[in-house]
Amino acid sequence: MYKLTILDECDSTQEELKKTLKDNEFLAIIAKRQFKGKGSYSREWISDPGGLYLSFNFPTIPLNLPASIIFSVIVAISLQEYVDHTLGKHLGIIYPNDLVVKLNGNYYKLGGILVEICGNNYVIGIGINVNNQVSNYQFEHKALSLNELSRIVNNKTYKFDVVDIAKNILDKVSLFYSSRIDIYQRLLELDFTHELKNVKILVFMDGEEVIDTFDNIKIDYNLKKIVLYKSRMRKDLEFEKVRRIFY
Ligand code: BTN
Repeated sequence: MYKLTILDECDSTQEELKKTLKDNEFLAIIAKRQFKGKGSYSREWISDPGGLYLSFNFPTIPLNLPASIIFSVIVAISLQEYVDHTLGKHLGIIYPNDLVVKLNGNYYKLGGILVEICGNNYVIGIGINVNNQVSNYQFEHKALSLNELSRIVNNKTYKFDVVDIAKNILDKVSLFYSSRIDIYQRLLELDFTHELKNVKILVFMDGEEVIDTFDNIKIDYNLKKIVLYKSRMRKDLEFEKVRRIFY
């Protein structure tokens, strides 16, 4: 379904895609490196060679869950199928848009999903740490790449095929478009958010964004609400009120 373009470099695959996108087209762009990679919350996405930097469009059809969650699950499913079982069981997501590795009780950022809207399309950006080295970087989160995970878990340095990973993700997105993949069934097992304890969360309350610490967080995907617990207090919030989770 997708027409894929592979670039050696660009400022941002998001901007490249927006420049060329027309309605009723399915376009995807990957770049081997980006000079001005965009992260969520107007942050920079460090885009060294070896990572996967992919953007594609998807029509803004009504979705039952936030687009960031849907595409995070699709990418996590695709990665789990791509890597072997020993690595796959470490992969999951944290609300609202993080791909994570769970290792020895710690959570590391493997990648992230950026959702923008351009006319009648979502422009989805996927950044994944694949063969690049990120464990020594001081990001807001601890980070890990698939290559580093493989070294730790399987004791071997494996070079993953970034283009192949991108094609697998696009195949899964195409299956989702034609309703041949059940996101909800896999969502609960892939979502690590509910495991987090004593967690700092950026929430939008009383007209402003505040960071507060909560004992834990539960996401009710059926009732479409998030419940935050702190001592005996319980706070029910709509999805979009929980902006970021620090882990
Ligand atoms: C996040 O902040 O977690 C989301 C990061 C998304 C980065 C990807 S890399 C490909 C695409 N192009 C960009 O400039 N950003 C997204």
